Amino acid sequence: MLRTHTCGELRISDVNKQVTLTGWVQRTRDKGSLLWIDLRDRYGVTQLFLEEGKSETSLINTARTLGREFVVKVEGLVAERHSKNMNIPTGEIEIKVSLLEILNSSKTPPFTIEDETDGGEDLRMKYRYLDLRRNPVRESLQLRHKMAQQTRVYLDSLNFIEVETPILIKSTPEGARDFVVPSRMNPGEFYALPQSPQTFKQLLMVSGFDRYYQIVKCFRDEDLRADRQPEFTQIDCEMSFVTQEDILKTFEGLVRHLFKAVKGIELKDVPHMSYADAMKYYGSDKPDTRFEMKFADLNDVAQGKGFGVFDDAQLVVGICAKGCATYTRKQIDELTEFVKRPQVGAKGLVYLRCEANGTFKSSIDKFFDEIELSKFAQKFNAEAGDLILILAGEKDKTRKALSELRLHVAGQLGLRDKSKFAALWVLDFPLFEWDEETKRWNAMHHPFTSPKREDIAILDTDPGNVRANAYDMVLNGTEIGGGSIRIHDRTTQQLMFSKLGFSDEEARKQFGFLMEAFEFGAPPHGGIAFGFDRLCSLFSGADSIRDFIAFPKNNAGRDTMIDTPSTISQAQLNELGIEVKKK
Ligand code: AMO
Repeated sequence: MLRTHTCGELRISDVNKQVTLTGWVQRTRDKGSLLWIDLRDRYGVTQLFLEEGKSETSLINTARTLGREFVVKVEGLVAERHSKNMNIPTGEIEIKVSLLEILNSSKTPPFTIEDETDGGEDLRMKYRYLDLRRNPVRESLQLRHKMAQQTRVYLDSLNFIEVETPILIKSTPEGARDFVVPSRMNPGEFYALPQSPQTFKQLLMVSGFDRYYQIVKCFRDEDLRADRQPEFTQIDCEMSFVTQEDILKTFEGLVRHLFKAVKGIELKDVPHMSYADAMKYYGSDKPDTRFEMKFADLNDVAQGKGFGVFDDAQLVVGICAKGCATYTRKQIDELTEFVKRPQVGAKGLVYLRCEANGTFKSSIDKFFDEIELSKFAQKFNAEAGDLILILAGEKDKTRKALSELRLHVAGQLGLRDKSKFAALWVLDFPLFEWDEETKRWNAMHHPFTSPKREDIAILDTDPGNVRANAYDMVLNGTEIGGGSIRIHDRTTQQLMFSKLGFSDEEARKQFGFLMEAFEFGAPPHGGIAFGFDRLCSLFSGADSIRDFIAFPKNNAGRDTMIDTPSTISQAQLNELGIEVKKK
């Protein structure tokens, strides 16, 4: 190598060593006769030192031409610093430079390469290769590397085999749209990029692989959010001859191992909660359980007292914010505005303050006396000093709105501490969900998920209440993984497709290969996939998954650095047999 040491390596014990370093110029300080240069690489920063009179003039002259981000090679002697910087590991030494070679110059970077940069999101994305020089972004990718390594260590120790599955495939329905790829050799026909390797991992079970995993790219053409990218990575896994309980244990083990190996944290118990309870107590299938603030249904104490908003509602439901009775009128107005935002969708907010003297102050005093209000408080075991917040309306919408309010209030109270971790399994998801637009049932997870045996009897009569052998792992209110026990016989799979509105012909055309495979000795099997980018971002307490992906897309699904998606030449289009409509 061109260097003897990295920029993060030298210590006081190395004093008097002759060394060669390479790296980027972070900054130079020119104090007339004294000149310092901070040299940076992936491993750290080392201070270089030159002194007029002692260092050669040509050396000083070269040093004075250095700009930010120049790439240099230096030789010199390690010396103890006069004024030490104990905040960095190399802060006790500096290099007395005897040779300085500029390996490459650099234009002034469009933003500062510092932990706190002056560059906005767009600029950072356009020059992502410079952004990646910054410590926080580099550290995010280092964490990702460690997570991937440890995932392999854990799964390998349990006999899982990593198998790669194809990227050019046929559409797999996972609820999003496919990205499609035209084929020159088959004009008018298209590959699809996998939304997940779902069908392939099931085929590997038919092949007898028994325990499969893959850290794999998946592609979904869906609306983007902070925790969604069109191209993302899963830790995708499948096992044969297992019960749901076996899968939960194995993959709780994976998450536990990652916490221990990567963060040195012992993850607390991972409770199991049914989907029905998650919706009832948290209004969400991914409840944040770092804090309590459970919902209480209030219909029995709220209705029949002449207050129209409650009387006309399908559901009256509330939460108790501990110690928040001191909230001012302004703060409560702010919460009311919050729930009325179109994204939350409530019509209004009712509050009930449990005062220190045991009385109540509420926005519904006109309709309820003290004894009646105390019944509200009892529902939450509320104490003096607490604030009860109540929403009323249509059942599902109201629960969803209260779930948003719960998170909002918890955020204000500092209960969503990013250094705390609470995981849980949500179980027994519905098999189907009703799609109002197309007026048909969709698979809530995917069409390969098996129904609960005891619910098969109501498949025809009451599809909305059929539960699936499906589970999600939730961490701090984010779905980090999901999976199911699969259907493994042709008859049930065919039945499932017909319930989802596929004709026999359509099902055969799209999934004939899988149904046929089921006729050649398919073992009972099930699995799970974790969102790897999400897991990484949660591990480091970040809000977005973007910095855990080396070259992510922006909110419009564009890579502004390479400027894509982009048009292709007419010659390419002709070759592919594609006609593009002019906008
Ligand atoms: P599912 O669709 O639930 O299951 O995906 C598994 C996990 O992948 C993550 N995820 C995403 N992460 C970033 N960007 C996205 N656009 C995105 N979409 C999903 C989530 C999610 O929990 N084949 C099944 C798994 C199985 O049944 O085994 C599947 O893909 O964290």
